[in-house]
Amino acid sequence: MAESWSSSVDAHLDWTPGSGRAGLAAAVRAAIRDGRWQPGAVVPSTRALAHDLDVARGTVTRVYADLAAEGYLRTAQGAPTRVATAGASPLPAPVPATEPAYRWTFRPGRPDPSLFPRDLWLAATRRVLSHAPNQVFDYGEVRGSNVLRATLSAYLGRARGVLADPARIIVCSGFNHAIGVLGRALREVGITETAFEDPSIGRFRTVASAAGQRVVGVPVDASGLVVSELDSPAVVVTPAHQFPLGVTMAPARRTALAGSGAVVIEDDYDGEFRYDRQQVGALQALAPERVIYAGTASKSLAPSLRLAWLVLPRSLVDPVLAALTAVGAQPPLLPQLVLADLISSGAYDRHVRRCRLEYRDRRDRLVAALPSHLTPEGISAGLHLVLRLPSSVEAGLPAAARRHSIALERLSPMWMRAVEEPGGIVVGYGAAAKNAFTGALRAFLSMLGELT
Ligand SMILES: Cc1ncc(COP(=O)(O)O)c(C=O)c1O
Repeated sequence: MAESWSSSVDAHLDWTPGSGRAGLAAAVRAAIRDGRWQPGAVVPSTRALAHDLDVARGTVTRVYADLAAEGYLRTAQGAPTRVATAGASPLPAPVPATEPAYRWTFRPGRPDPSLFPRDLWLAATRRVLSHAPNQVFDYGEVRGSNVLRATLSAYLGRARGVLADPARIIVCSGFNHAIGVLGRALREVGITETAFEDPSIGRFRTVASAAGQRVVGVPVDASGLVVSELDSPAVVVTPAHQFPLGVTMAPARRTALAGSGAVVIEDDYDGEFRYDRQQVGALQALAPERVIYAGTASKSLAPSLRLAWLVLPRSLVDPVLAALTAVGAQPPLLPQLVLADLISSGAYDRHVRRCRLEYRDRRDRLVAALPSHLTPEGISAGLHLVLRLPSSVEAGLPAAARRHSIALERLSPMWMRAVEEPGGIVVGYGAAAKNAFTGALRAFLSMLGELT
């Protein structure tokens, strides 16, 4: 009977002991065809595999030589043997990517991945690993690392004016995760309807609805959420920089919302990036027992970290912890400690300042280069702006973007109401890599010239 063997380098083979050279060769071929041994990967050494399978080393050596002759493996003097890559006929064809590959990107909501502070992250990781106790390799606390929560408490108070005692902070795997956890926790305390700004991101509305919330829309105007139209016990808002329209919530609206009695989920996704004047502090400070403050590392560092944090009203700490325990999927502990080190060493502030300069410069260049009939909407902040277009023009956008190889997002899918709103482009000027921005801008302007 075939058995699964795991060698010292984790090479899983369905191999029948005693099946000899032919049996072993068949097992390796099958592992390569199935993709368990991937193209380009180093295969176990002949010594390690012979030891693990308890066969003669010469058997493995001959099997590897046969498979190299057949094109499955690649051997080279003085280098480890690898699974063959392109050009080796026995390998399955690569699976085509589901999304077309675009040369340029203006997708909103993305920071420039080339600005990720690799050196700072590496240095912080070194510091963490050299000082942290062995417990950091154990299961972490459900609510998140104590060290990160204490660090965030000081940082959020200083940078965003949030009243954030560490006992109220929990760490989540991104805002996406947080919305699912909160939807469930609110349901447990009897809240089953959550309002979202109209327009807003559909993905978050879907997560809230999957967590048991009835989702409704509340309009947004030039002063932010129209609070007088809010009739739900909970609401998700982006007061510092409305996504996608880019307006800031006016002071009178902030006061009205804080006093509305609703549980407010304040999505402060890009609060660090304000270019024209003093940052607007978080709404949470006006009503810490009604407002749930949510922050994320997705814009300031990278979405792939999946790190976000919530500062909760005291009455919601236990229900949210219960929901978090039920949902699971908390972020791993080590990156939490690295983030804490980055913040407390001052490296995070320096990094954010560097990014702010870069994004501000891009925004200025984009705005200066726009044709005069297109007026950008939204305050000078964050990583995106909106260009409104008649719906008939927006309809031509996907094809134009494909022709110019630009990844873009349209405004119209973000509206919730049935009436037809003007279309537009939500232009994410943060997403391109620094050295590709000039080319991306040229392509974008040329596409706009054709379209409008
Ligand atoms: C409005 C808004 N809120 C929050 C987020 C952050 O989401 P996450 O933390 O899941 O990456 C984004 C990211 O695209 C966003 O655009």
